[in-house]
This record gives sequence, structure tokens and C-alpha cells, in this order.
Amino acid sequence: MSEDQTKLSGPDLEQGVELSVIPDNGTLLGHARGEPVMLVRRGTELFAIGAICTHYGAPLEQGLIVGDTVRCPWHHACFSLRTGEALRAPARDPVSRWDVEIVHDLAHQFTPTQPTVETVYVREKLERAAPHAWPVTAATPQSVVIIGGGAAGNAAAETLCREGYAGRITLLSADAVLPCDRPNLSKGYLAGTATGLSNLLRPAKFYRDNQIDVRLNARVAAIDTVARQVQLADGNRHAYDALLLATGAEPIHLDVPGAKLPHVHYLRTVADSQALVAASLLAKRVVVIGASFIGLEVASSLRARGLDLHVVAPESIPMQKILGPQVGAFIRRLHEQHGVTFHLGTTATAIDAHGVTLKNGEVLTADLVVVGIGVKPAITLAQQAGLNIDRGVAVNEYLETSAPSVYAAGDIARWPDRLTGESIRVEHFVVAERQGQTAARNILGRREPFAAIPFFWTEQYDLGIAYVGHAEHWDEAAIDGDLEARNCSVTYRHDGKKLAEAMIHRDLEGLRAEVEFERAIGVETGFSMMGGESSKTASRAA
Ligand SMILES: Cc1cc2nc3c(=O)[nH]c(=O)nc-3n(C[C@H](O)[C@H](O)[C@H](O)COP(=O)(O)OP(=O)(O)OC[C@H]3O[C@@H](n4cnc5c(N)ncnc54)[C@H](O)[C@@H]3O)c2cc1C
Ligand code: FES
Repeated sequence: MSEDQTKLSGPDLEQGVELSVIPDNGTLLGHARGEPVMLVRRGTELFAIGAICTHYGAPLEQGLIVGDTVRCPWHHACFSLRTGEALRAPARDPVSRWDVEIVHDLAHQFTPTQPTVETVYVREKLERAAPHAWPVTAATPQSVVIIGGGAAGNAAAETLCREGYAGRITLLSADAVLPCDRPNLSKGYLAGTATGLSNLLRPAKFYRDNQIDVRLNARVAAIDTVARQVQLADGNRHAYDALLLATGAEPIHLDVPGAKLPHVHYLRTVADSQALVAASLLAKRVVVIGASFIGLEVASSLRARGLDLHVVAPESIPMQKILGPQVGAFIRRLHEQHGVTFHLGTTATAIDAHGVTLKNGEVLTADLVVVGIGVKPAITLAQQAGLNIDRGVAVNEYLETSAPSVYAAGDIARWPDRLTGESIRVEHFVVAERQGQTAARNILGRREPFAAIPFFWTEQYDLGIAYVGHAEHWDEAAIDGDLEARNCSVTYRHDGKKLAEAMIHRDLEGLRAEVEFERAIGVETGFSMMGGESSKTASRAA
């Protein structure tokens, strides 16, 4: 949370505010006991919850109220107004909730011609609601093994705990560090604004306290779906009753002479990002191969470190395939304004210690090369175990694979998407976390279909783009608003059907698009856990 966000604004809600100043289905930002608090009015109900998103600290009063939930404007986390619970990733922790009292001004009884005044007071902070334990049945697994310590694996482990699961949870990760905020590896972490510790999704204590047995540097070499056990590369075995495969994706490697030289880098893990930071401290001139999201985020972060930067890519307009020609051209100009030079319509044919040779004959001097030409799902284990594969691990809407009690989530999973009617696989952080959450609940017997609308974001310099939906193929990209002024949305359609919307600094519109898509596929949009509290009404002579 930045310092600005901890600054208090609006009224002191402990001193009371008139009910009439809170719009129906609207919010009022204030504070109580030194904390930002948001009052939310829904018909006859009033709620008071912490006003700062527990993910990256967005102001929740700028979000969208949907049923008895609020959605975060930045990355679409969802909190219950009743309990404060983080109902949807990427937020993991709840927001605080507060007791609210409405006091009627009894003076009105004696002067009935005067309008009655109702004053809302925020009282004490309420205890966090106890997690509702999912009932244990004969089918509840005794032990769950999760392969993968990334977004999906971590979210699954956390969800099992939150659901009150009392069995054994083992998380096996090939990474050397605890689950991390992977998107930040090309952003704040690379630019130098986030530390290693702050980049972990949870500290080690969290896993200890929740009895999640995390094994790092634990690469799984084989899965035996008949004996229900996995074997690590070091020979150790772990038996499972339920297994979640969340092995993510791995960078596609460049196949040209010199591609294995030590100054050629890829970016997927914390170790990759650390190596890149170390190299950038000595380098002067960088060539980024690939104008992907990761390539361009790396360019942005390394420009922040003052390096001379060149981007090489085969397309004529970066990002055109996903975001359309106008947004792509805009992104190119943005990078050029920040001093990046593009070499488009060509590819790298060789790398040596001094530079990169391009297909068009150009030779670019470089003492650091970063390759970002895409990723492929890490499906080797699944293939060897005989699971159904379809350009990823094929799962049904419950995220079950073709093997009994084996689930898959995150970048490896291809699932039946209700919006497009196709089986899709995406590489988005929030999707991976939400799939991890859904898979965990299904492991416990919930039978919850995965029907979340895909969402991703990118940050380059001071530009943020959010994208809702999924348009692998589109034939129309209609811009509404002013792209140059960075205030617009772009709707992607195929055969007239709206499939996705990208937002440039129009957060609320992104949330509305998400709800619109959810309604289109018949998903319940405003949900919450029961048992929370709204306002109490009292009368007091004022
Ligand atoms: C630099 C970077 C920036 C990104 N930025 C964004 C962004 O801005 N927005 C966005 O939406 N998405 C972004 N993404 C994508 C997002 O991070 C991924 O979609 C997400 O991390 C996928 O989660 P996952 O759990 O499926 O896989 P991962 O997070 O990759 O985790 C996979 C885990 O599996 C482990 N593993 C693999 N094989 C084995 C094995 N055999 N045995 C044991 N463990 C194994 C790995 O060690 C790792 O711990 C970014 C990705 C990167 C790399
Ligand atoms: S800041 Fe709220 S979801 Fe990211």
C-alpha cells in the first residue's frame, strides 16, 4: 500500500454522517479509528468495510457494487460486503468489517413537519467471520498433493485451508523460492521497486501456521495414477488421494546460433528475474527479442534502469494480434517516447558476445539479450501419466482431468469456456488463481463449474491496460473514447458477437463488462457467504 493510500479522506464515520448523503447502491468513503472505511448502501441495508483492496491497495470505493459484494477496480478481486471475505482472487486476505448503527432523530416526533434525520455511525471493528468448514464425507480425500508452487497451486492450498480442510496438504514446487507474485517479476521487481520478500505471495510462516507442507526444489518426475503417487526427481514418493497439477508454462527457447550464451536471458522465475537484474547492472545496451507482453514489460522496466533498449519482433505492429492495430501502434509510440527503438518485420538469426544479427542483415550491438517469444504449457508429466492432452491438459468444467481424482489448473489447463463455447487455455495470473480456488473446492466435493470470465492486465511505464473476456479470433476492434488521451475501451467481436473488452484507464467499465459477460453465460454475479452483518437501527433523542 502506498503512503497516499493510507491518507484518510472523507468524514470521520465514528462521528456519524447523515444517511441521505449515501446514495442508494452507492458508497461513501470515510474513516474510523484511523483506518479508511467505506459505507455501502444497498436498499435498506448498510455495510461498513475496509476501503483498501488487500491485493495491491486499490481504492474500493472506485469499484463496482454487485449484489452484496464489491469488486476491485484494478484487478477485479471481489469482497463480501457482509463478511469482508476475499471471495475471488487475486485478493487473498479479507478486508475489515465494522458495526454500523442508524440513529433516528426523535426530535422529529415533536416537529413532524421537519424531515426526519437519520444518522449513520460506524462503531467497532468486527471479528473476522469464522471460515465455514466444508463437511467431511467418506469421499473427502485424506491427503492432497499439489504439483506446482505458482499462482494456481498456491491458491488451491490456501483455499483448502480456508474451507477448513483438515487432511494433509503437500505442495511440491520445482522453484527454489516460495510462491511468488510472478507478474511483478517483469514489472516492479525488475524495475527495482519491489523487494524479494515483498514479492512472495505469503511468508514462510503462513504455510507453517496452516500446516501446508511446502517442498521447494522438489521437481516431480513421474505420476502413477493407478497407485496414486508421485515420484520426485530425487526418488522420494508422495501418495495422494487427490492430485492437482499446476505446473504452469515454460518459456519457448530461441533456436539460433548463440542462443545459449550466458548473456541471453529468459524470464519466468524469481531466479530468472534476479539474474536479469544482476546483468542489467553491468549492461549498457539490451536487445529484447519478442514484442510480447513480457518483452515489452521488460523493455519498460529496463528503461527505468536507464539501459539503451532495442526490441526485435516479426510483426509489423506490436500486440496487434491481441489488442488490434490502433492500440498496438499506440503502444509502439509509447515505448518510442521512452527511448526504445523497434526493429519490426524481422527476426534474430544469430547471437554472439557483442550483438544480435537480424534476418534483414542488420547487426545490433548488445551486451544483454532478453528473449520473450512466448511460453508453452509444462505438460510433460501429464503426457507421461497418460492424461488427455489437447494443446494443454484437457479438463472438464470442474477442472477434472481424464484420470480419477486428478485435477489441473492454471497455464497448463484447457477448459470448456462458456463465453466462447470453445476449449481455451490462457496464461493469466488471475485465471490461474481462480482455477486453483475452484479445483480445491471440487477436490472437497463441491462440484463447482469453473465459469470465471478471463481477466488480465499489463503495465508499461505509466500505462495500464486491463482485458476482460477472451477473443482469440476477432474481426472487429471498436474503440470507444480517446486512445491518445488514454481514456478508452476497445470491444473485440467475432461475427458480431462481443468476446472481449480492453480498457485503458477505464476501470469501472472493465468491471461492468465482466458482469455483462457473466450474465450472458448465466453466472451468478452478486454472491456472498451468509451470516455477515449489515446495519442495526436504533432511536435516540438527538
Ligand atoms: C514475467 C511474467 C509476467 C507476467 N505478467 C502477467 C500480468 O501482468 N498479468 C497476468 O494476468 N499474467 C501475467 N503473467 C502470467 C502469469 O504469471 C501466469 O499466468 C501464472 O503465473 C500461471 O500460474 P500457474 O500456477 O499456472 O503457473 P506458474 O505460476 O508458472 O507456476 C508453476 C509452478 O509449477 C512448478 N513446476 C513446474 N513443473 C514442475 C514439476 N515437474 N514438479 C514440481 N513443480 C513443477 C514451477 O516450479 C512453478 O512453481 C506473467 C508471467 C510472467 C512470467
Ligand atoms: S488491487 Fe485490488 S485486485 Fe489488485
